[in-house]
Amino acid sequence: MFKIRSIDSFPNVFQNEHFTKPFLKDFEGKEIDLKGKWRSDVFKNQNALVLELACGKGDYALALAKKFPGKNFLGVDSKGARIFTGSKTALDQKLGNIAFARMRIENIINFFNEGEVDEIWITFPDPFPNKKDAKRRLSAPKFIERYKLICKPGATVHFKTDDLPLFRFTKQTVEELGLKTLYYKEVIYSAPLEFEELNIQTYYEKKHLVNARTINYISFQL
Ligand SMILES: C[S@@+](CC[C@H](N)C(=O)[O-])C[C@H]1O[C@@H](n2cnc3c(N)ncnc32)[C@H](O)[C@@H]1O
Repeated sequence: MFKIRSIDSFPNVFQNEHFTKPFLKDFEGKEIDLKGKWRSDVFKNQNALVLELACGKGDYALALAKKFPGKNFLGVDSKGARIFTGSKTALDQKLGNIAFARMRIENIINFFNEGEVDEIWITFPDPFPNKKDAKRRLSAPKFIERYKLICKPGATVHFKTDDLPLFRFTKQTVEELGLKTLYYKEVIYSAPLEFEELNIQTYYEKKHLVNARTINYISFQL
C-alpha cells in the first residue's frame, strides 16, 4: 500500500485512477490531458517516444533510457506497486527522459494521439495459455490494432518472452495481419546477440533464466 500511495506524489508518474474513465492525474492530483502532448508537456522536447508496455518494474525502459538519452521512454503498467520501483529509480538517478503511466493497455488509445508513438517494447507479458484467453495476450490482433493506431506507420514492436506457445502465436498473428517480421529468434542466448539492447534482463527474465527457461525475441513492423 505504501508504494501505491507514494507514486501519487511522484512527478514522473501519471495515473488513470479509474480504468473505466479516460482521465489521467498528475502528481498534484490534477486532471491532465496528455494526448498528443507527451513530448511537449512531459519530456519538454520533440524526441522519439518509446513505450514499454506491461513494464512491471520498468527494467527495460530504465536501461534503454540510459542507453538512448536522445529518446523519451514511457513505462506503462496497471499495477502501482510495480511502477513504484521504476519511477523511484528514475527519480533517484535523475533520469529526465523516462516517465511512467499507470493505465490498462486495453485503454491506450484514450491517452495517445494517432501516430504519437515511435516504438514499442513488450517483455515477458502474461502468456494466457488457455485458448479462451487468447484475446488477452498483448500480441493478440485487437492489441496490435491499438498499437497501430497510436504508432507512426512502420513503427517497430519488440517482443521478448520465455513462453514458446506465446512466441509462436505472436509470429502467426503478425503474419496473419500481413505485418512484416523484422527479426525472429528462438533461444536468443544460444549465439552472440546481434543487438546489444537484447541483453537487458528484466525482473521476470532473470527469474526465468534461473529456472532454465529459454528466451525468445521477435520484432515486427506496424
Ligand atoms: C509477467 S509481468 C512482466 C513485467 C516486466 N515486463 C518484466 O519482464 O519484468 C507482466 C506485467 O504486465 C502487467 N499487465 C498485464 N496485463 C496488463 C494490462 N492489460 N494493462 C497494463 N498492464 C498489464 C502486469 O501488471 C505485470 O506487471
